[in-house]
Amino acid sequence: MRVLTISGSLRPDSYNRKLLRNAEEHAPQGVVLEHWDRLAEVPPFHGLRTDTGETPDAVDDLRRRLEEADAVLIATPEYNGSIPGALKNALDWASTPFPDNALRGKPVAVIGASTGGYGAMWAQADLRRVLGITGARMVGAELALPKAQDAFDDDGRLAPQHHGRLESVVNELVGAAQPIAA
Ligand code: FNR
Repeated sequence: MRVLTISGSLRPDSYNRKLLRNAEEHAPQGVVLEHWDRLAEVPPFHGLRTDTGETPDAVDDLRRRLEEADAVLIATPEYNGSIPGALKNALDWASTPFPDNALRGKPVAVIGASTGGYGAMWAQADLRRVLGITGARMVGAELALPKAQDAFDDDGRLAPQHHGRLESVVNELVGAAQPIAA
């Protein structure tokens, strides 16, 4: 099973990217996490580009990787109480063409880290709403990591007290992507 991960942060030392890297260690056997790192290459959405068929390369890549993935895990920072613009922009691209977009029916889980006290909760709530509108199948498990500057060691390893929640999110996402037994 393949889980595509996307970090909503473009910051080189991003806590959200670290969170996704740690998720790898909590994935059940046989589940591969693939990190999509081309967010910075996605140009601002312009409806005309869709109409004329001139799709940017990074958008083609995102759509293809979403289609190939069994599930998607997104970690988002919070900027001024909401989703980073770059992430929203990429999801707007991925939501087209509607309704047969690459996110439709795809199991998606959202987690988030922030240096504030609430772990990007508002951004996560907004992101879940946006993804729901695209047609993604949202997974209920949540992980809000506050004070992220204190949650990782020098090698980027997540403090053990957060492992259980991260594992629950990954397990619930993987469970949602399993074919239902006959
Ligand atoms: C922030 N940050 C922030 N944190 C928060 O909890 N709520 C917020 O509304 C905001 N707003 C905000 C706006 C802008 C423009 C920046 C640059 C930052 C702080 C944010 O949580 C922190 O920078 C995290 O480290 C961002 O995540 P990454 O980049 O480490 O993944």
